[in-house]
Amino acid sequence: MISLLGRVNMDALDDPFAAVDRELAACALGEAADAIVVDMHAEATSEKMAMGHFCDGRASLVVGTHTHVPTADAQILDGGTAYQTDAGACADYDSVIGNQKEEPLRRFTTRIAGGRFKPAEGPATVCGVYVETDEASGRARRIEAIRVGGRLSQTSPAVAAVHTR
Ligand SMILES: [Fe+2]
Repeated sequence: MISLLGRVNMDALDDPFAAVDRELAACALGEAADAIVVDMHAEATSEKMAMGHFCDGRASLVVGTHTHVPTADAQILDGGTAYQTDAGACADYDSVIGNQKEEPLRRFTTRIAGGRFKPAEGPATVCGVYVETDEASGRARRIEAIRVGGRLSQTSPAVAAVHTR
């Protein structure tokens, strides 16, 4: 498991591409590791997608986090790495990225903070990704988005069409 921090619209940090390159070189998929999950915690979809391609064939899964909304691009990249731009939050989606709507709306409409953000506490949707890997190579054979409960459209490995290579 490798957790990276992106740099687009985030505080200045070390280069996540150089960091993951170093770690993946030190721990080869299918040799030193049966499976490698890369969590790309970043704001920009472009940076997350670039990271997926950068790691393609060297990680079992590259999945983005931080933007809280699940993306509809679960796929297996050409080199065998499963990928989704953002896994989504496990949260109440009758909200602004998990917060009760009133304070975010006040700030967007008036530019004045009127209090703290409070978590939305309605029924949550559990979001994530399901991945099957090849035992020998560690590469992905299947990826499915998971959205269970709450108000988002529902999907899970049991109900989804099978996406395999
Ligand atoms: Fe974050």
